[in-house]
Amino acid sequence: MLTRPSTFAFALAALQSLVTALPPRSNVCNVEQPEDGSDAVPNILAAIDECGTDGQIIFGKTTYNISSVMNTYLSNVEVDVQGTLQWSTNIDHWLNTSLPVGYQNQSTVWIFGGDNVWLHGGGIGTFNGSGQVWYESIIAFFDNYPRRPHQITFGNLTNSQVTGLNFYQSQMWTMSIINSSNLLLDSITINNSDSRPGHGYPQNTDGADTLFSNNLTFTNWTVTSGDDAISCKANSTNIHIENCTFHYTNGLAMGSIAQYNNNFEIIENVTARNITFYDSTQAAYLKTWAGIPSGNNTYGPYGPYPPNAGGGGLGYIKNLTFTDFTVSNIGQGKFAPFSITQCYFANESIPNICDSSTMQISDVRWENVKGTVKNTGKDVGSFQCSGEVPCTGIEVRDVQVTSVEDGSVLGGYLCSNVSSPVGFECTGVTSQT
Ligand SMILES: *[C@@H]1O[C@H](CO)[C@@H](O)[C@H](O)[C@H]1NC(C)=O
Ligand SMILES: *[C@@H]1O[C@H](CO)[C@@H](O)[C@H](O)[C@H]1NC(C)=O
Ligand SMILES: *[C@@H]1O[C@H](CO)[C@@H](O)[C@H](O)[C@H]1NC(C)=O
Ligand SMILES: *[C@@H]1O[C@H](CO)[C@@H](O)[C@H](O)[C@H]1NC(C)=O
Ligand SMILES: *[C@@H]1O[C@H](CO)[C@@H](O)[C@H](O)[C@H]1NC(C)=O
Ligand SMILES: *[C@@H]1O[C@H](CO)[C@@H](O)[C@H](O)[C@H]1NC(C)=O
Ligand SMILES: *[C@@H]1O[C@H](CO)[C@@H](O)[C@H](O)[C@H]1NC(C)=O
Ligand SMILES: *[C@@H]1O[C@H](CO)[C@@H](O)[C@H](O)[C@H]1NC(C)=O
Ligand SMILES: *[C@@H]1O[C@H](CO)[C@@H](O)[C@H](O)[C@H]1NC(C)=O
Ligand SMILES: *[C@@H]1O[C@H](CO)[C@@H](O)[C@H](O)[C@H]1NC(C)=O
Ligand SMILES: *[C@@H]1O[C@H](CO)[C@@H](O)[C@H](O)[C@H]1NC(C)=O
Ligand SMILES: *[C@@H]1O[C@H](CO)[C@@H](O)[C@H](O)[C@H]1NC(C)=O
Repeated sequence: MLTRPSTFAFALAALQSLVTALPPRSNVCNVEQPEDGSDAVPNILAAIDECGTDGQIIFGKTTYNISSVMNTYLSNVEVDVQGTLQWSTNIDHWLNTSLPVGYQNQSTVWIFGGDNVWLHGGGIGTFNGSGQVWYESIIAFFDNYPRRPHQITFGNLTNSQVTGLNFYQSQMWTMSIINSSNLLLDSITINNSDSRPGHGYPQNTDGADTLFSNNLTFTNWTVTSGDDAISCKANSTNIHIENCTFHYTNGLAMGSIAQYNNNFEIIENVTARNITFYDSTQAAYLKTWAGIPSGNNTYGPYGPYPPNAGGGGLGYIKNLTFTDFTVSNIGQGKFAPFSITQCYFANESIPNICDSSTMQISDVRWENVKGTVKNTGKDVGSFQCSGEVPCTGIEVRDVQVTSVEDGSVLGGYLCSNVSSPVGFECTGVTSQT
């Protein structure tokens, strides 16, 4: 059911708030939630049919029942989310219908594509994945359970902005950004906590994962999750992250990458500045699979290849800058705030596997990092580079981190195959894990 807004004043106010140079539009659709509480997706698709080119689509101040997958493409459209889109809790239905995204056999429930789109929530609009049912399901105990979906995939989205949206309890990764370019993602709040007391923050609920995408800017993000806050994977280039706060996450992950044997993948030109990390395992870290494929899939077809095993990828990681970080109680478990591994998930019983990657890592800088680290005696950095291609241009400057337990200053750096470290001295070798 679609209705036109009754007042001209409403449309005028919306136009005045446009941040981008979207032209005036006469084509405005209000999406209605069916009164009987059933699936709102048919109404959403009808609105997109009518207003999905040069139009405006408004989700009103209500809760929409989202019970079907969507694959949509908008052109020159403003999408205004004033209420909540809530995904239904029928796990079997989603496992049966989720849409493949084309990497690691992952899937999603909404492929949101378009050009010149402004999707905004004004700090109020919310996407609620009903993840609690997923966190309580047996599925949560398995990595990348087949067809456990991402909450949304920005796929083939170009020259667009996503602003002021809240994401709550995503089913798996909150958003994947794939084959997309020239995006600003500003003022996004993600909270993927388990609502059961004592159950913490579920894994595999990343804030955002980028693949085959170029020129993305993330600003003013707050992420609460038990996994990576933002992860730049295969062919992520020219990414900027600024003014963000992360809680309980694994921080900023560059990778994993090189999981697909003989595929050429890169990560290049990533900058992150003014990021605060509370209770994170790490701050910013790099992970490549080894040069020799190893491991085994959990569900078959069995073998040392994706989704759950692999390695042997080609390519490089180059030019990453991490500056002005504040860390608080970081470094949970075995992790150091900064790290590199080039044998992610490798079968370390294979001789020299951690020296087999040919994915060269170069020009990575961590600068101006202050705060506290859990565990006295922990090292600040752990850099395990491949013997085949030692890391070059690894730079660490102006780091002042102290132990939360006794205030002692941490200064250790473990290194393997780090060529000419800049600004720091290696104090030991990594344990290769
Ligand atoms: C959402 O819609 C589906 C499909 O119509 C229905 O089975 C489900 O009960 C609805 N959920 C709510 C909370 O009403
Ligand atoms: C999922 O698919 C299976 C196999 O086709 C079918 O038996 C089951 O009813 C479906 N479940 C739902 C909720 O659609
Ligand atoms: C992953 O996807 C590939 C290609 O579509 C398929 O051949 C393979 O069976 C899938 N593996 C799993 C574990 O789903
Ligand atoms: C994007 O467009 C390409 C080419 O049309 C298509 O193959 C792909 O499936 C689309 N979706 C995503 C998520 O990339
Ligand atoms: C990068 O994307 C922004 C939009 O976020 C755009 O303004 C800018 O022109 C793009 N840069 C290039 C080089 O295309
Ligand atoms: C981030 O938020 C601040 C404070 O609200 C605002 O001034 C700034 O413009 C935002 N950044 C972007 C890129 O919109
Ligand atoms: C750093 O980011 C926070 C938001 O996380 C913001 O409030 C603060 O003004 C920023 N400071 C600088 C110096 O950019
Ligand atoms: C980050 O925050 C600072 C301080 O509030 C502000 O000056 C700067 O413009 C912000 N950066 C972005 C990209 O929004
Ligand atoms: C990834 O980027 C590299 C370097 O630009 C390119 O050679 C490769 O084809 C890209 N891979 C895909 C799947 O787009
Ligand atoms: C590294 O990336 C930054 C940010 O994208 C860019 O300004 C700089 O020119 C790059 N450096 C090199 C050597 O490419
Ligand atoms: C990285 O930035 C440099 C400097 O701006 C630029 O020359 C290079 O093309 C960029 N790399 C990619 C993959 O966009
Ligand atoms: C992979 O796991 C399957 C199922 O457990 C097993 O049959 C197979 O031998 C394993 N392959 C390797 C190389 O470990």
